[in-house]
Amino acid sequence: MSAQQSKVLAIIGQGYVGLPLAMAAVDAGWTVIGVDNFAAKVDQINRGTSPVEDVSGQQLQTAISNGLYRATTDFSEVTKASVVTICVPTPLDDKREPDLSLLRSAATGIAPYVSEKTLVVSESTSYPGTLRDIIIPIINELKPVGTENVYFACAPERVNPGDAIWNQKNTPRLVGGIDQESQIRALAFYNSICDAVVTVSHPEVAEAAKLLENTFRLVNIALINEFTQICSASGINVHEVINAAASKPYGFMPFTPGVGVGGHCIPVDPLYLTWWARQNGGEATFVESADRINHEMPKYVAERALRMVDGSIANPRVLILGVAYKPGVGDVRETPVTALRSYLQDLGANVAWHDPLVATWEGTNPVDLDWNCDVAILATNQPGMDLSRLIESRVQILDCTNSITGQPGVSSI
Ligand SMILES: NC(=O)c1ccc[n+]([C@@H]2O[C@H](COP(=O)([O-])OP(=O)(O)OC[C@H]3O[C@@H](n4cnc5c(N)ncnc54)[C@H](O)[C@@H]3O)[C@@H](O)[C@H]2O)c1
Repeated sequence: MSAQQSKVLAIIGQGYVGLPLAMAAVDAGWTVIGVDNFAAKVDQINRGTSPVEDVSGQQLQTAISNGLYRATTDFSEVTKASVVTICVPTPLDDKREPDLSLLRSAATGIAPYVSEKTLVVSESTSYPGTLRDIIIPIINELKPVGTENVYFACAPERVNPGDAIWNQKNTPRLVGGIDQESQIRALAFYNSICDAVVTVSHPEVAEAAKLLENTFRLVNIALINEFTQICSASGINVHEVINAAASKPYGFMPFTPGVGVGGHCIPVDPLYLTWWARQNGGEATFVESADRINHEMPKYVAERALRMVDGSIANPRVLILGVAYKPGVGDVRETPVTALRSYLQDLGANVAWHDPLVATWEGTNPVDLDWNCDVAILATNQPGMDLSRLIESRVQILDCTNSITGQPGVSSI
């Protein structure tokens, strides 16, 4: 069977997006080649140990033993695939601007191995024009001589790691092909693995929609973080206010305050938008302001926590509970707890942390929950973290998650 007829999918990048996609495709009858340039991760996956929470070891082992999935560092395996999806990180650089180096290297890696009629889809988040102006030119320049027709589409991934309800299958998928044939092929592919596919007229619409979705979250989180500080200064419990406002059946959506925003998406993607706005001579001042407010939140939390400690203690011992950016995952990328820890240390605190899902963090090891502290900060309420002993011992806790508020010794932001 030729590559264009085969039901073989190559996925570039086997992380939080690529590996769950691989399993969803296997479930839908595809044979999947997972390409990743991180050899240790490829070995781990091929041993049947999943590096992400949304894929179990059992699921991985079954797919491998049935011959329907395997990981590799070898880009030449792409030759066998009729569909190639790119799921590599799109972080920020030192200037907090889009860093597309991994996306470029993924496109460069697959280009010599695309076959006639291969469909290449970018699922990575980026600014509008990335598929058309960056990925397609690289592949067209480096594809094998004689390969006339390669099809291209953008289908931004919307996965929410750790979400028990929404996954790759039941989350509607946006699909924007570069031309009509690409769109037809991309729709056929995503219809084979997703319950619902939404057609948009151009890849740029799909790329912009992804930025809008995540910027929507960033600005609403910033709004509630700012609102929390205003309420707190007047002694009003913001959570009671949020619940009261949420009783309105239309026109309001509750967001909750926290230490800040983290993960690979919400703190990052809106800066792709602000950068894109500047390229077009504009300015996304509203988004920039939201970004600033969220970045100030760890400082606010640090100061609130230290105000709970007896002022005579020169170097208070502070225990941070949960360092991953959200509950249920061990992902510490962009976690606002990094800034929280530095502010606390700058203010003279002796800081330790505990997180049952994170083995080591920024070169440091966790402590037990009974680490003797003057105040604890519940930054992320991880499953499996038994706080009852801490509460019983009447340790002062600043709860940034509103999950143990009302317990003795607990204050909430
Ligand atoms: N994590 C999420 O919740 C989420 C949700 C929706 C969209 N996204 C987007 O999906 C994309 C991927 O994010 P992720 O969270 O899966 O990243 P990740 O870091 O979990 O996984 C990416 C994988 O790609 C590999 N990789 C990097 N460069 C490569 C290259 N040139 N060739 C082959 N492999 C390469 C890495 O080794 C890594 O294993 C990003 O654009 C992100 O914004 C992420």
